[in-house]
Amino acid sequence: MAERTEARHGRATVPTVLRRLAEGAPLVVVTAYDFPTGRICDQAGVDVVLVGDSLGNVVLGQAGTLTVSLADMVRHTEAVARGVSRALLVADMPFLSYQPSIAEAVQSAGRLLQAGAQSVKLEGGSFWAPTIRHLVASGIPIMAHLGYTPQSIHRMGGPHVQGIGADGRARLLEDAQAVAEAGAWSVVLEMVPGPLAEEVTQVVGIPTIGIGAGPGCSGQVLVLHDILGLSGRAPRFAKQYIDGERLLTDAVASYADDVRNGRFPGPEHTHDGQSWGRGGAPV
Ligand code: KIV
Repeated sequence: MAERTEARHGRATVPTVLRRLAEGAPLVVVTAYDFPTGRICDQAGVDVVLVGDSLGNVVLGQAGTLTVSLADMVRHTEAVARGVSRALLVADMPFLSYQPSIAEAVQSAGRLLQAGAQSVKLEGGSFWAPTIRHLVASGIPIMAHLGYTPQSIHRMGGPHVQGIGADGRARLLEDAQAVAEAGAWSVVLEMVPGPLAEEVTQVVGIPTIGIGAGPGCSGQVLVLHDILGLSGRAPRFAKQYIDGERLLTDAVASYADDVRNGRFPGPEHTHDGQSWGRGGAPV
């Protein structure tokens, strides 16, 4: 459990993030999964760091998010929490951590808050309104998630655009209204047509955070490993900013090459019994 998290950090809170948004700046949200990625995202100045259950795909090498456990999310949230001192920290409620009952949802969300998160995210719309209402009444801020929801991959048949046709549009609008009325402070819209995401944003009354939903949302979220080029094959809607796979592979290959050719370790990396390398502090 993170000790005295609320006293230790100077993090943004849900109210401060909402105020920032009201001042006109779109919300910047990015995922992180461990201490260094949490620290990097925080230093980069994003508004919200999300410990996503995309952990399963991009960090644990699993086929999807269904195999991510609450214990996984608690462990990774604790690690990210140690690296985040400015942004608001949100953690995903993994599959089966809120579905069985409202009481279990409160327990699971509570564990994630004890791990250092300040809000939790859960997937689904109108059906989850009573759960959201109960969590919010229990003091747990909720980020909802609509459109393509990876925990429902088997029902949806794959990562397909949602909100298509008159029925799809009506359902998405109804779900967005339902989670907002239940007290969610924001809602992720994943893989939703741009004009529909914009319409939801205009009517729903809480911030919309788009991923594959166009520029008409109140903010954007991307998976860190897609930004960094570390996810293998990023979806079309993501933007890759560096070829991390190439950069990191080259770095490790350079190290291997240095060892094999006697260039590492050098004198500066070698303890001589007096001091640590060139002018370094004695060890
Ligand atoms: O798990 C995750 O990374 C997410 C984002 C894509 C919103 O839910």
